[in-house]
Amino acid sequence: MRHFTSVNDIPDLRKALDVAFDVRNNPFAYSHLGKNKTMVLIFFNSSLRTRLSTQKAAMNLGMNTMVLNVNEDGWKMESELGVVMDGDKPEHLREAIPVIGEYCDIIGVRSFARFESREDDYQEKILNQFIQYSGVPVVSMEAATRHPLQSFADLMTIEELKSRPRPKVVLTWAPHPRALPQAVPNSFVEWMRKADYDLVVTHPEGYELAPEFMDGLQVEYDQRKAFEGAEFIYAKNWASYTHYGQILSKDRSWTVDQAKMDLTDNAKFMHCLPVRRNMIVTDEVIDSPASVVIREAANREWSAQAVLKMILEGL
Ligand code: CP
Repeated sequence: MRHFTSVNDIPDLRKALDVAFDVRNNPFAYSHLGKNKTMVLIFFNSSLRTRLSTQKAAMNLGMNTMVLNVNEDGWKMESELGVVMDGDKPEHLREAIPVIGEYCDIIGVRSFARFESREDDYQEKILNQFIQYSGVPVVSMEAATRHPLQSFADLMTIEELKSRPRPKVVLTWAPHPRALPQAVPNSFVEWMRKADYDLVVTHPEGYELAPEFMDGLQVEYDQRKAFEGAEFIYAKNWASYTHYGQILSKDRSWTVDQAKMDLTDNAKFMHCLPVRRNMIVTDEVIDSPASVVIREAANREWSAQAVLKMILEGL
């Protein structure tokens, strides 16, 4: 594996899960792989879990790590080609990316959807420039359309908790005060479908995900019906894809509460975090034994370490 930007970069999902559970059991067994190698983690957006878990994963593998918060620690960066750079951005990604590539062996990049242009976001303009110009392997730490390290950790969590081979997994939209990208739900759908789980997606009308992710998958617009018999409830907010970046609803009747969880088959509650309590999910549910959000976050270290190990083994 050279780059990691989606589940499609994983040659064998079952083997990748085995690697992730192996590094969880033996975190320091492969520290020779990263000796004298360096990972740079570039953040265009905020992070808690991704920053710490990816850095820890790299350190477990013996790598040195450097973190750059673009726009805060470094120069503001221009990403558009052909512009006259007479504004507040003194550096262009076209130079910055190959320079960063000179200093490291792997680059991790976080670059969210900007909601200025659906076409630009869905073409992954920033992430793809890193792949094109850095000269080193690139790991997505959440890009405009996908968050594969999160989905890999979610898959680990379901695999270790499921009680039947093909569990019913429900992705439900939930309300939020701000417009959030579709990266987590897109990615979750992609990984759950690859794992061949019984996936049901539920959301209000107008929140349909991009056809490239939902192709052939019917939406269940009745959230209560969707929850019936579910083994896992994965809550997430996202802004509209059709009316790109817009908030169409803040309907709190979509908040995950105990009455809805009672419709499930003793489902586990999942969320990638950070989570808005009593918007996305009630205190009662997230504080209950059914909530596995901390386990998901813990698995972020191992999904990142599995990905980095697979890349290092190919270097
Ligand atoms: N789930 C997740 O990616 O968390 P952070 O945004 O804190 O990294």
